[in-house]
Amino acid sequence: MPEFVGAVDQGTTSTRFMIFNHDGDEVARYQLEHRQILPRAGWVEHDPVEIYERTNSVMQNALRAGGLSPADLAAIGITNQRETTVIWDPRNGRPYYNAIVWQDTRTDTIAAALERDGRGEIIRRKAGLPPATYFSGGKIKWILENVEGVREAAERGHALFGNTDAWVLWNLTGGPGAGIHATDVTNASRTMLMNLETLDWDDELLEIFGIPRAMLPTINPSSHPEAFGKARTSRPLRTATPITGVLGDQQAATVGQVCFAPGEAKNTYGTGNFLLLNTGAELIRSTSGLLTTVAYQFGDSPPVYALEGSIAVTGSAVQWLRDQMKMIDDAPGSERLARTVEDNGGVYFVPAFSGLFAPYWRSDARGAIVGLTRYNTNGHIARATLEAICYQSRDVVEAMERDADIHLDVLRVDGGVTDNELCMQIQADVLGVPVSRPVIAETTALGAAYAAGLATGFWRDTDELRSHWSESRRWEPQWDQKAREEGYAGWKKAVRRTLDWIT
Ligand code: G3P
Repeated sequence: MPEFVGAVDQGTTSTRFMIFNHDGDEVARYQLEHRQILPRAGWVEHDPVEIYERTNSVMQNALRAGGLSPADLAAIGITNQRETTVIWDPRNGRPYYNAIVWQDTRTDTIAAALERDGRGEIIRRKAGLPPATYFSGGKIKWILENVEGVREAAERGHALFGNTDAWVLWNLTGGPGAGIHATDVTNASRTMLMNLETLDWDDELLEIFGIPRAMLPTINPSSHPEAFGKARTSRPLRTATPITGVLGDQQAATVGQVCFAPGEAKNTYGTGNFLLLNTGAELIRSTSGLLTTVAYQFGDSPPVYALEGSIAVTGSAVQWLRDQMKMIDDAPGSERLARTVEDNGGVYFVPAFSGLFAPYWRSDARGAIVGLTRYNTNGHIARATLEAICYQSRDVVEAMERDADIHLDVLRVDGGVTDNELCMQIQADVLGVPVSRPVIAETTALGAAYAAGLATGFWRDTDELRSHWSESRRWEPQWDQKAREEGYAGWKKAVRRTLDWIT
């Protein structure tokens, strides 16, 4: 009997393969970055071929690192950066265009037009999403309208759409002539094209975007023993390992954090931040700028829904300090630099590089650093960057508490930025609630592995998964209420300065 489950995590900046044992402990991993292609201000692309090559390579290397063979894997899960859009030719597997990444804002006129003529309300009601550049629908429309020959090809069945889960799955399961063209409910719920109640592509939504149904993948549950086929093409996986779990990375982290009960929430700190609250069978429609999305669907069970607060720029603001501003050499440098000062010295940084996502949804916002005086140093800028991560999360928590009428007692966190002790302390201070990080911090890959392993009986049920979760670190709030409210008032004022920058 195979003793391990593997998970592909195809993220925004890198792709990794992780292997877990029965206790949910990591046995091996391998990770490779891919290029961020930035052709113009606001445009962000990836090369889909590079992404698939990296996927193959990380699978092979992780197996080697663990001294394992494909036969040791009971199943594979796939999790992915959501919304990022690939369109390819099924006859030869060639993409028609680079992948348009979720952060890309080129479709702002498409999104604005939807908002102007009332179709935005239909999208909100049926898909649970505000019309925004973030989601796949507008990106597909852009490719159909701007890349020569694609609309014609799509109408003749010669163009397939997928987020990177579907792209990787189609390639792993055999590519041209054999590849399985499928996705799961969580990924489909990020396109603006799926009806949240029927869990199927919606004709009215397809009509709004002018997208032929034939381009779209079959929508499956997130965990299923057969629906996703077997990995055949990848060199190390010629033994046809079953792929039995597929879900978007933030939903996967929700599963990895075992947020299986309504009211349980997690916040993942990656390129951006994504706070998801399990709302169970209930589809809560946000009135405060959050998204309604599918959290997961396991096999034949009904779907579990979530409210989500998506923040476009958090960890990537730290990368910006490193790569563009050259203020630090590496990500931990942001903590060292921020610790050179006592507080933000009056400086606020709103990193609205892709406009502002939740709860504002303003693609016309642009970044700003405000409150500068001669007294300030780059230490204050670093501190303001970490605070921006935390204040944006507070904006989302406030919206969530309003929409779901709950009060968070503790915030479960994961993702790379949670290594930053100062940032996590600021998060507890800014929110006024404790922040808790689990022992297994790689919750995204773990969640995909859980979805895959549940489908094959490798893990019995969600109670068994719950028993794997334990806390490794907790940060308690230290600020008093006055400091908390004054700090937040400064942040809100700074946000107001970034809105309407373009108009
Ligand atoms: O919605 C975008 C999100 O899925 C990206 O996550 O971790 O790849 O930046 P990440």
